[in-house]
Parts: sequence; C-alpha cells; structure tokens
Amino acid sequence: MSGHSTYVPRTAIGKWFEARLPIVRLLHDTAVSYPTPRNLNALWTFGGILAMMLVVQIVTGIVLAMHYAAESHVAFRSVESIMRDVNWGWLIRYLHANGASMFFIAVYIHIFRGLYYGSYKAPREILWILGVIIYLLMMAAAFMGYVLPWGQMSFWGATVITNFFTALPIVGQPIQTLLIGGFSVDNATLNRFFSLHYLLPFLIAGVVVLHVWALHVVGQNNPLGIDVKSEKDTVPFTPFATSKDVMWIVLFMIFYGWFVFYQPNFLGHPDNYIEANPLATPAHIVPEWYFLPFYAILRAIDFNIGPIDSKLGGVLAMFGAIAVLAFLPWLDTSKVRSGRFRPIFKVAFWVFGVNALFLGYLGSVKTDDIIGGMQAVSWAKLSTLYYFAYFLVILPVLGYIEKPKPLPVSINDAILAKSAASSAH
Ligand code: HEM
Repeated sequence: MSGHSTYVPRTAIGKWFEARLPIVRLLHDTAVSYPTPRNLNALWTFGGILAMMLVVQIVTGIVLAMHYAAESHVAFRSVESIMRDVNWGWLIRYLHANGASMFFIAVYIHIFRGLYYGSYKAPREILWILGVIIYLLMMAAAFMGYVLPWGQMSFWGATVITNFFTALPIVGQPIQTLLIGGFSVDNATLNRFFSLHYLLPFLIAGVVVLHVWALHVVGQNNPLGIDVKSEKDTVPFTPFATSKDVMWIVLFMIFYGWFVFYQPNFLGHPDNYIEANPLATPAHIVPEWYFLPFYAILRAIDFNIGPIDSKLGGVLAMFGAIAVLAFLPWLDTSKVRSGRFRPIFKVAFWVFGVNALFLGYLGSVKTDDIIGGMQAVSWAKLSTLYYFAYFLVILPVLGYIEKPKPLPVSINDAILAKSAASSAH
C-alpha cells in the first residue's frame, strides 16, 4: 500500500547512513510521502492526538516519579508536597491527572470513528485488535495510576476492583492475592501498582508501533469506506495530513488546557483529597468517568444465571463487553464499511452511542435510584442488553437484510461530484 519508496538520499552523510541504517527512508516513507486518502475528515486526526497524549503522559509521569514516594505512609503527603513545594509541581500533576481523562476522550472518539466507518473490517482486523489491546492496557495503567495518590477513592476503588477476581472459581483468590500482594490492599499493593504503572505506558508505546505498522501495511480507511484505487485518490502525508493533524492537536491542547488551568479537579473525585483510611468506607464508591459504562454493566447482573452466581456473572459481562470488540471484524457481516451507505446500521449505531453514554450515567448513580419511575439497575439491564445485542445480533443480521445505498466508483469521483454539486448552487 505504501508503494515504492520515493526517498533519494542527497547528501554524502545521507548516503552513508542509507547504506548502514535506512532510518531516514523509514521516516520519509511513513510521515512524508505516505499516500493518504484525500477525503479524510477531522476524525482521522485522533490517532495523532493519541500519540501526542501518550508522550505527554510519559514525560509528566517521569517528572512526577522523581518526587513521588510509593510508600503507604507517605504517598498521600508526597503528592501534596508535589502540589505545594515542588516548582511547577501543581502543573505537572494536573497535566498528568487531566491528561488521563483527555487520553480516554480521544480514544473513545477514535474507537467510535472506527465503529462508524467500519475501520475494523478486512483487511484491518489486526490493526483493530491491536487497538483493543492498547485500550485494555490503557485501562490497566489508568486504574493503577489512580491508586497512587493513596486517597480514599484510590484505596476503596482498588479494594473493589481487585475483589472482582475472587469471583473466578479456583484461580480467583490466588490471583487477587498475587495482585495486591497480601490479604488486603496495603503497602505491597501500592509498590507493585507503582512499578506496573511505570511499565505499562512503555508497553503501550510498543503496541502503538505495531498498530501504526499494521496501518501502513493495509492503508488508511476513509469516510467513504471504499478502497484507494489510483494515485488520484490520495495525497502525500506531508504537508496535507501533517498540517491538519497539527491544527487539531493545537485545538485539542486548548481544550485540555482549559481543564488544567480552569477546572483541574472537575473530572476527579473530592474524596481522593482525603487520605486512605481502611476503617472508613466512603458512602458511595465510584470509578473514574471513563470506566462508568463498564461499572454499570457489572452492577446490572444482580441475578444468578444457572450455576453462575451474580458476582461472577457481573464480572464476565464486564470483561465480555470489552472482549466482544475483538470479534467485531467477524460479527459485522456487511461488506460495506462506511455507515454513510447503511441506512439501518446508522440508526443502530447512534442508538448504541447514546446507550453507551446512558450506561456511563447509570454507572455514576446508586443502583436503587429512581429514574423516570424505574430503578437505575433495571435501566442498566436494558442498556446492557442493547449493548450486547448490537454486537451479537444486530450487526450479524443487518449484513444480510439491509440494502446499502450505491457506493461511489472512487474517492476522486465522489470528491469531483461533490464539488460539481456545490458549484452548481
Ligand atoms: C495509544 C492509543 C492509540 C494510538 C496512539 C493510536 C494511533 C493511531 C494512528 C496514528 C492512526 C492513524 C491516524 C488515524 O486514523 O487517526 C490509527 C488508526 C487506527 N486506529 Fe488507533 N491508536 C490508538 C488506539 C486505538 C484503539 C484503542 C483502537 C480500537 C480499539 C484503534 C483502532 C484504530 C483503527 C481501526 C485505525 C484505522 C482507522 C482508519 O484508517 O480508518 N486505535 N491509530
């Protein structure tokens, strides 16, 4: 897909390098001459935004680690000292804490873009699955990072989440003990979570390299979802995609900066400014916003299903909600990629989006709260049902019964037709 390399080393040192380590050629082929579909919209800039956020998280995280103490008696105070005593410490910490939320906002836009335009379909299955792996690693990294300030939500969140593992028969208890390094969340938990929290972003960076490699083998999808047919359908990555990426990165930074400078604690929980206390359970334990839909799915299963008790059922449903994404390339049976040409899919997709937001809301309230005359947990059951039905019933069936709209012959034809139509007005 990337075609033949057009890189020609011009200088003597360039030629010398080329014969030994053709790294400049690699960079040129990936970020300069790489043919990009000419119709990409702003949603295709989020991969670049994610790459930038990963760098921001690693750099700010390394600086935080210089001042942070992963010892349960001093962890909370060391974070306060970062905020008050370390030069610019408040900025580094707010950048890192809000950066995690920004990372998830960007990844959800990136994932939903893929869901709408069918970017997971052949030949992009591996690219998609690598994305799902990155998403899982991101969740693990965020969860462990949240434990480090050793506040009330850190402690009780860690207690609740690691307790899920005990639902698994036989292996559950040993896994939980290994994870927390004892019989309850304590100093050993904090030590290992710090160690793993430091490691995971580098693992993510490794999988991102594979992700981008896979992308460059199969090429980018585009809003029309049709294959690139000739050179007329593409433009070189630089300057076209690079300038667009830079513009959207700057806009995203402004959005991110607004949170950091004006609402730095809006996305956090006030209870995390109270030091962890194993003897005082908070009235309402809630995970960070980006985990809420999955938390709602976990709590929706409050009944036994045959031999599977409600606790194990909830845990299986929660992990199943993520695992199902990995099978999506084979669950969606439609040959047409882009949602633009799929009238029924479009409706099911938007309902799925609203349902995912609603699940997030349900994850934030108490299960017995009344919403529109019905208990939150009953709503969560309906929403969970739709979540799974979308992947396991709607998408497999739609491929057979839906009549897609006619596809354009090529990307270039579609663009010319659009500009002819707009100049006729
Ligand atoms: C650290 C996280 C991630 C980084 C840095 C990253 C990076 C990128 C980049 C640079 C691109 C090309 C530009 C673009 O299409 O926006 C891309 C494309 C893609 N990514 Fe990711 N990604 C990440 C996470 C994910 C996740 C979690 C998924 C799915 C579960 C995913 C699925 C895809 C797919 C399917 C494409 C191809 C899209 C297309 O061409 O239509 N990525 N990614």
